[in-house]
Amino acid sequence: MTKKSYLLLLVTVLGVATIRAAGPTIAIDAASPAGKVSPYFYGLMTEEINHSYDGGLYGELVRNRALLDDPAAPAHWSAVQGDGASAAIALDPGEPLNHTIGTSLRLDVSQASKDHAAGMANEGYWGIPVKPNTRYHASFYAKAAPGFSGPIALSIQSTDGRTIYATATVSGVTQTWKQYDVTLQTRSVAPTTSARYVLTIDRPGQLWFSLVSLFPPTFKDQANGFRPDIMQMMVDMKPKFLRFPGGNYLEGDQIADRFEWKKTIGPLADRPGHRAPWGYRSTDGLGLYEFLLWCEDMNADPVLAVYAGYSLKGVHVNPGVDLEPYVQDALDEIEYVMGPATSKWGALRAKAGHPQPFKLTYVEVGNEDWFDKSLSYDQRFAQFNAAIKARYPQLKLISTVGFEQPENLRVHSVKPDVIDEHYYRTVEVFLKMARGQYEKYDRRGPEVFVGEWAAYETPFEPWNPRSRGEPPTPNMWAAIGDAAFMTQMEKNSDIVVMNGYAPMFVNVNPGARQWRPNLIGYDGLSVFGSPSYHAIKMFSTHLGDQILKATATDTDVLVSATRDSRSGTIYVKLVNSSDAEAPIQLDLQGVRTLASAATTEVLAADPKATNSIDAPGTVVPVTSKISGVKSGFTYKVPAHGIAVVTLETH
Ligand code: AHR
Repeated sequence: MTKKSYLLLLVTVLGVATIRAAGPTIAIDAASPAGKVSPYFYGLMTEEINHSYDGGLYGELVRNRALLDDPAAPAHWSAVQGDGASAAIALDPGEPLNHTIGTSLRLDVSQASKDHAAGMANEGYWGIPVKPNTRYHASFYAKAAPGFSGPIALSIQSTDGRTIYATATVSGVTQTWKQYDVTLQTRSVAPTTSARYVLTIDRPGQLWFSLVSLFPPTFKDQANGFRPDIMQMMVDMKPKFLRFPGGNYLEGDQIADRFEWKKTIGPLADRPGHRAPWGYRSTDGLGLYEFLLWCEDMNADPVLAVYAGYSLKGVHVNPGVDLEPYVQDALDEIEYVMGPATSKWGALRAKAGHPQPFKLTYVEVGNEDWFDKSLSYDQRFAQFNAAIKARYPQLKLISTVGFEQPENLRVHSVKPDVIDEHYYRTVEVFLKMARGQYEKYDRRGPEVFVGEWAAYETPFEPWNPRSRGEPPTPNMWAAIGDAAFMTQMEKNSDIVVMNGYAPMFVNVNPGARQWRPNLIGYDGLSVFGSPSYHAIKMFSTHLGDQILKATATDTDVLVSATRDSRSGTIYVKLVNSSDAEAPIQLDLQGVRTLASAATTEVLAADPKATNSIDAPGTVVPVTSKISGVKSGFTYKVPAHGIAVVTLETH
């Protein structure tokens, strides 16, 4: 060994020793930002799955209100009779409400009296939720055979009929279809979902019913609106966008089952609903207009996915002439969203109550078109791209085939503005992806939208029916995987411009779900956030607009640092996947004055711990103040913990 190389070795060894002596360190370079945080961080993705809308966010409590769920029987309805009262119910396609709703529910009461009424009951979505001191809005279409004009008694009652929670009466029923409206008010009752919605008469008669509806109070009291508690969960996340309507729900199993937006707007009596891919029919009560109001209610932008000529069972529309009507449909849809009130489709939006155009920046062409093994997506995308850009050059178009898919499935004939990547991976894979997945992406674009992602922690893939034996929402270990991946996306949000966890919702009742894990769970009365929900909310509500370079030494703790350029506030997100507390020296370089007091928000728990309807607060973030903060201070990240340290600088 030469003297020079000996000295070099010594310097290296001493150097290493010096670094080691400093211990686990994260150095944050606040002198100059490394990039801009995307203004579209964070967002939400939604579709009708796991009873996300019907039996979920959409306020309707009556199940199968239009009687179209099953052509063979009035599913979820039953006759109410007994004690001398006698009734029969049946579907009656001979007496449809109109051309759209091609059937009705016929009620034949052969015997009934004031003391023993007869009629029909709806079981709701796993019960009708009864809340104290609550006003319910009931409506229905009805007509009667000659000889009967009423009254019809409406009631929310216990499933055995013994307890009446709220009642109302409608009279003056005629022999032509007419809509009736009335309110029902509960008193000081104990909340329950063991209830049903009942319509009875107290004398013999024959009646037909359609669109039998019961709404509890909705978010911002919107007609045909949303469940306030579920809406609030999303509003609290401060989402920047909502990607809708899917997901598989956009495509349908067959072309005829796609989300045909024109059939989802206007009066409910003009919406037939449709066969959706997740095993149950959609009412489309939550249609295109409601999706847009939902965005507005959250102060989020719509990310509109348009049907692009591919459906799940492997059928596609050939690019060229065959595809033209679908392209036109997308152009019409965009006009409905953002066209002036004087335009053909903008006028319909105005008629619905929103003359102002909605803001639209991103349009996604299809969903997961890598499944289209005919390789037609390249040409289909190009056709949509040309037509949409010709009319709306300001729009950014998203291809549904990302870099995680084989080269031959991607779009090549034009350069998409954005590509959508989907990741459903184990926590362990997400922990690996957190270490560099997006560093290698070409900054010249296209930009990346991680349109669906979720870490799962069970042996079962999310779509595996065996996963239905597991809790519907993920546990703390999954939240660690999610948070780890978020540090990676955030650090690279100059190129990863949007992301959205999926699926967002699950009705936790038996049989309601097709997928796990899911972010937010609910039954008829309550809603809860999974640990992953809390992790995402921690990230999305502590963000800023500048990415700061954060270099970790001698630690496996993952980090993302960002700053709000207006206030100077720095957010340091730390994820510790190990089972030991991790003390980290936080060096802040390039900060002039650092306030000695800081705030921390910490989510830490046993990796198996989770939340549920009965225990919604098992894993929730804890906010604390810390003092003695200066560059080089030590912060201890709890075992299996996710922490956001908020530092004030001047
Ligand atoms: O999020 C559930 C499903 O996963 C989506 O519908 C689909 O896009 C993906 O395969």
